[in-house]
Amino acid sequence: MKAIQINSFEEYQEKYTKSITQPEAFWGEIAFNFRWKKKWDTILNWDFQDFQVDWFKGGKLNITETILEENIVKNPDKVAYYWEKKKKKDQHKSITYLELYYQVCELANGLKSLNVQKGDRVCIYMPMVIESVVAMLACARIGAVHSVVFAGFSANALADRINDAAVKVVLTADGLNRGDKKVDLKSMVDEALVSCSTVENVIVLDCIHSNPKMKNGRDIFYHDLIAGKEKKCDAAIMDAEDMLFILYTSGSTGKPKGVVHTCGGYMVYTAYTFQNAFQYDSKDVFWCTADIGWITGHSYIVYGSLLCGATSVLFEGIPTFPDAGRFWEIIEKYKVNQFYTAPTAIRSLMSFDLSFVEKHDLSSLKIIGSVGEPINEEAWNWYYKHVGKNNCPIIDTWWQTETGGIMLSGLGGLSPMKATFAGYPIPGIQLELLDTEGNKIQEANAEGYLCVKFPWPSMIRTTYGDHERCQQTYFSNYKGYYFTGDGAKRDEHGMYRIIGRVDDVINVSGHRFGTAEIEDAINKNEYAIESAVVGFPHDIKGQGIYVFVVVNTKETDENLIKSSIIDSIADHIGKIAKPDIIQVVKGLPKTRSGKIMRRILRKIAEGEKDNFGDISTLLDPNVVQCILETR
Ligand code: PRX
Repeated sequence: MKAIQINSFEEYQEKYTKSITQPEAFWGEIAFNFRWKKKWDTILNWDFQDFQVDWFKGGKLNITETILEENIVKNPDKVAYYWEKKKKKDQHKSITYLELYYQVCELANGLKSLNVQKGDRVCIYMPMVIESVVAMLACARIGAVHSVVFAGFSANALADRINDAAVKVVLTADGLNRGDKKVDLKSMVDEALVSCSTVENVIVLDCIHSNPKMKNGRDIFYHDLIAGKEKKCDAAIMDAEDMLFILYTSGSTGKPKGVVHTCGGYMVYTAYTFQNAFQYDSKDVFWCTADIGWITGHSYIVYGSLLCGATSVLFEGIPTFPDAGRFWEIIEKYKVNQFYTAPTAIRSLMSFDLSFVEKHDLSSLKIIGSVGEPINEEAWNWYYKHVGKNNCPIIDTWWQTETGGIMLSGLGGLSPMKATFAGYPIPGIQLELLDTEGNKIQEANAEGYLCVKFPWPSMIRTTYGDHERCQQTYFSNYKGYYFTGDGAKRDEHGMYRIIGRVDDVINVSGHRFGTAEIEDAINKNEYAIESAVVGFPHDIKGQGIYVFVVVNTKETDENLIKSSIIDSIADHIGKIAKPDIIQVVKGLPKTRSGKIMRRILRKIAEGEKDNFGDISTLLDPNVVQCILETR
């Protein structure tokens, strides 16, 4: 979408100034480039004290019309996705915008035939296949709200999410391919649904031809559902502030919360950031390696990129299968121009022989991006030198599930770049660094809590079913600000570097977990009395999961206890949250009021042997020594 593209750093500065001095005029001008059934009455209403925000109020639209109708008019035969399967020799598939339109309409009609209506929630628990994108868009087409659950989550985690959103229909597959393994998804869904009463139907995509058990009256194959359905389906007319989707994410307390995004603002902001961060040209091939189960996949594999009419690669595999050259081989195969991945993948791949990357022609690359966690200097340098061949700008994009789109990033090659710095805010993003008391930090290179003081179009609207939780989580720490949960510093030029989470959220390989949710899973284990989970620096994953657990006397074999705890976490969350270290301890360091002093545990996990600061407030200071002795 060239009309919304910034073309120089000077233009960025002008736009940034305008976005602050005249935010409504600024966003109104951008929003005019999308298909609206009816233009908005007001651009922005907001309140960060008693949190409420709406963008483009009174506007009517369907996001799939800018994605499908608009792009079909321009170029129906343009490839929307190249789908690359796990193995080199497997046939790849591609789908054009026109074909995507037909498939979305067919499935939308299929959903309608199951009586899915505007506002109903549909859960998508699927592999990285084109049908998953089709499923999301089919929901959007008829105004149903999708809730995509990453297919690495367990049956229990899936059930929690289904119940929280009172989901009516689940879309899944019989299974998926991960490396050289096949993972059964359908039986996970069956297990989850034992405790979900709202689900009326399950649609099953035949992916791995495993002949799954189908429940009569409830389950239907995807191909049977769409058979004979019309390839046209009128788009539901949505209010700009109607829900587009829910995406669950972990916080520092309680169960994961359903972050709600709405139609109008999310559309405008994801397209704006896609176009500008990646400086996308209509002939480019873009590849984001995330899974669509995370926000990165939602915003830059599906919505932002499709809104801009992009051609993307959709990859079902993993970076190291069948070997560590897989990413580089795909870049060469499709002549990828913008490549967007996570530091954990870079760190993992840089540990292999350089020949894996050097034997492939990566000269098509123009921009290489990073997302999900802080990128350390060594990984940044390797990425720049060996993947970007010293002439592709790295854009380090900082953002969150709650922000909907990229907040900090260089714009393609336009902005100055500095290793490990995410850079400047996107126009419209007004950041502030605050100290513990909420005072603004003005001086350069000082660390503070990263907050946002003005709304942006794709910001979280609420946490599903519990607005008070949204208010408490994001707007109560610092009055009048959205609190990100991240620490950051700003250099003398105004560039930001993200330090990492300052709350009880840990970021493992770019995946976000709340320590409380892992503790909850451990505490359900038959041997566990209580536990404390902290993050610690990990060479590849960024952060690893360190578990301290107090156990009962039912079992004395520590190895058995540990593997049973790993199983509990796999059962309640998923294998993706597997702890790196489990230490059985006699007690946890607690204050007299019973609060666990995580500060001390974090230091122990980091390898600290003394220097724990003041431990005199501990109920039993000897506990620390005991833990150190058994570390
Ligand atoms: O700590 C920040 C980290 O990931 C958190 C958000 O996680 P999630 O909602 O899962 O979204 C991840 C993908 C957008 C943030 O609070 N994070 C994300 N991107 C970066 C980052 N940390 C440092 N640098 C980044 N580029």
